Amino acid sequence: MPDLPRVALVGIHGYGVHQRRAIEEHEAAGRARLVGLADPVPPDDPSDGAPQTAVPWFPDLRTMLDTARPDVVVVATPIHTHTDLATLALRAGCDVLLEKPPTASLEELDRLLGTVAETGREVQVGFQTFGSAALDVIHDAVAAGELGEVRSVDVVGTWVRPESYFTRSEWAGRRTLGGRAVVDGVVTNPLAHAVAAALHLAGARTTDDVVSVELDQYRANDIEADDTSAVRVVTSGGVRVVLGLTLCAATHSVPTVTVRGTAGTATLDYYADTVTFRTADGERTVAAERTHLLTNLLDHRDDPSVPLLSPLRGTGAFMRVLDAVRAAPDPTPVPAEHVERVTDDAGTHRVVHDVEAWCARVAAEGRTFAELGAPWARGQVHASATHPSAHASDAPRPDLEDRA
Ligand SMILES: NC(=O)c1ccc[n+]([C@@H]2O[C@H](COP(=O)([O-])OP(=O)(O)OC[C@H]3O[C@@H](n4cnc5c(N)ncnc54)[C@H](O)[C@@H]3O)[C@@H](O)[C@H]2O)c1
Repeated sequence: MPDLPRVALVGIHGYGVHQRRAIEEHEAAGRARLVGLADPVPPDDPSDGAPQTAVPWFPDLRTMLDTARPDVVVVATPIHTHTDLATLALRAGCDVLLEKPPTASLEELDRLLGTVAETGREVQVGFQTFGSAALDVIHDAVAAGELGEVRSVDVVGTWVRPESYFTRSEWAGRRTLGGRAVVDGVVTNPLAHAVAAALHLAGARTTDDVVSVELDQYRANDIEADDTSAVRVVTSGGVRVVLGLTLCAATHSVPTVTVRGTAGTATLDYYADTVTFRTADGERTVAAERTHLLTNLLDHRDDPSVPLLSPLRGTGAFMRVLDAVRAAPDPTPVPAEHVERVTDDAGTHRVVHDVEAWCARVAAEGRTFAELGAPWARGQVHASATHPSAHASDAPRPDLEDRA
C-alpha cells in the first residue's frame, strides 16, 4: 500500500466535527490517514456529544506535531488562533487546510504569507464555495460575453442565528479578545462565504483587487460585532460589489449572489451549487459539481501542477474587507423598538423589523441602510480607501503587491 498522507485535525468540536468527518471520508476512500486530533477539550467530552475515538488525541497542536507527525493539518479553531496554529504547522513542514477567515487582520495575513514563502508549504483556506465549479460556470459565461459588460455583483444574505450561537464560545460575536483581533461579525464569519464568492465573481482575489470598502454596520444582539451590515466594495476592475447581510431575519434563507451585466444576470445558489441565468434568451439553471478543498490540497501535493482552489494569497480581496471591518468603529445598536425577541424552531433569536426587505434594497439599489433611510439605521457610513497607496499616511507596503 502506498504511503498515504498523514492528516491531523486541530479544533475538533464545533465545525471541527464536519472536518473530522471529511478527513474520515478521505480515509475511507484510501486518500489519507487520520493520525491525530488536537484540542484542549478531549474528543470524548460527553457534553459535546462528539464520538469516542481510537485516533490519538493531544491537548495542543505542538504535542500532536511532535508525536503524530502529520503531513497535512486541518485547522478548525477560533479565528484569533489561526495565524499562530497555521504558522506552527507550516514550520513543522505540514501543508494546512485553514478555516475561514484565514486570519484576523491583514497584518497577520502578511505574516502568514511570509511563512508560506519561507517554508515552501501551502495554505488552502476553507472557503468551500471556491471548490464549486459553479464559479467557473459564471466566469466562463462572463468571458463568453453572455452577460454583456459586468457592472456589479450583489448579495442578499438573511440568516437567523439564535442567541445561543453568540454564547457558545467566548470569542463568538467579539471584535477583540484579550487584546487580539477576532472580527467575528456577519460580514467576516457567518456570511463570509457570500462575501468571498461575490468578490471572486467580481474578479477580485488579491489585496490589490479592492479599491475601496464602505461599511454601514449594526447589531441587534448583545454582542460587540455587527449582525446586520451593508457593504459596498469597488474593485480595481471597476465592478461594484454590494451586500445586504443580517443574522436577524425572521426566517433563514439561502443567500443569493447575483452577477449583473448589461445583457443579463447570473445568480449563484452556493448551497446547491446551481447558477440561474436570466438573459434575453430566457431563464436557465445549471447545476455544478464541487471539489472538497481537502481533496484538492491532496491532489496538489501529489501533482503541483494541479492549482489550489483556495490558496491563501487568493483570499486577499476578502481580507481587505475583513480588515476594513476590523478597523471600523463599533457597529451601531439597533434601537429596541425595532427589534423583536422571538422563540421558535430556530431557538430564541432577535429579529430586526423588515430587515429582509432592507437587505434586498441594499443589493438592488446599491445604497446602504442609512442611505436608504431604514428607520433603525442611524449609523455613519464608514469609508475605507483600502488600497495601500490610497493612504498618504501609510508606509509603502511592497510586500502586499505580489499577492497574486
Ligand atoms: N467553512 C465553514 O462553513 C465553517 C462553518 C463554521 C465554522 N467555520 C470556522 O471554523 C472555525 C471554528 O469555528 P467554530 O464555530 O467551530 O468554533 P468553536 O469555538 O465552536 O470550536 C472551536 C474548537 O477549537 C478548539 N480550540 C480552541 N482553541 C484551540 C487551540 N489553541 N488549539 C486547539 N484547539 C482549540 C475548541 O476547544 C473547540 O473545540 C472558525 O474559523 C469558523 O469560522 C467554518
